[in-house]
Amino acid sequence: MAHDLTIAPSILSADFTRLAEAIELVEDAGADFIHVDVMDGHFVPNLTIGPPVVKSIKRVARMPLDVHLMVSDPDRTAQWYVDAGADVVTIHIEAAVHAHRTLRAIRDGGAQAGITLNPGTPASALSEVLPYVDQVLVMSVNPGFAAQSFIESSVAKIAEIARMCREAGVSPRIEVDGGIDPVTAPRVVEAGADMLVAGNAIFGAEDPAEALRGLWRSALSRMV
Ligand code: DX5
Ligand code: ZN
Repeated sequence: MAHDLTIAPSILSADFTRLAEAIELVEDAGADFIHVDVMDGHFVPNLTIGPPVVKSIKRVARMPLDVHLMVSDPDRTAQWYVDAGADVVTIHIEAAVHAHRTLRAIRDGGAQAGITLNPGTPASALSEVLPYVDQVLVMSVNPGFAAQSFIESSVAKIAEIARMCREAGVSPRIEVDGGIDPVTAPRVVEAGADMLVAGNAIFGAEDPAEALRGLWRSALSRMV
């Protein structure tokens, strides 16, 4: 079963002193989720925000919060983000020692569970946990920073994960994060993605609302 196409602007590229305005702007322009990048300066070479800020964002956002945990110890800390109000909590398969247990705990806490993998991790690493997730996030850059170049091999990986899901009889959303713009968006959608994260392509644009609508139009042209 295919999902409707959804777009999740990443506020990593927004002005952190004016997050509420940035969120309102993209929500008015049709964003479906707000993508929140949590980085711990250890799993990735950058440091962003933690539970208190997620909690504040939750107070102002109308759309669900899609929280992407780029942290070394998601088994211990995922619950912090469920408690802070995240609607989806996505953990990295490379960082979770007990991925299955943590995914279940996220769901038990009332949030949706997501699993993600770095560009250097094969799709097969996800096979055991696919039945336990609401969303699979394919990283199309090495996580840590906005505005990096899309890694080409991500297209084949998305297609492979879509095939694995069909064979397993499951249908999580397939999300892509990193270097998504009006050129790469239709390509990943054609490969089977139905949820697009975009930071720089939206917040780096002169008119973020128009950039979001442009992304939407480009991607929708290939939605199967
Ligand atoms: C990268 C983050 C992304 C990032 C995407 O580590 O996980 O969500 O904000 O930014 P763009 O769309 O600029 O590549
Ligand atoms: Zn992200």
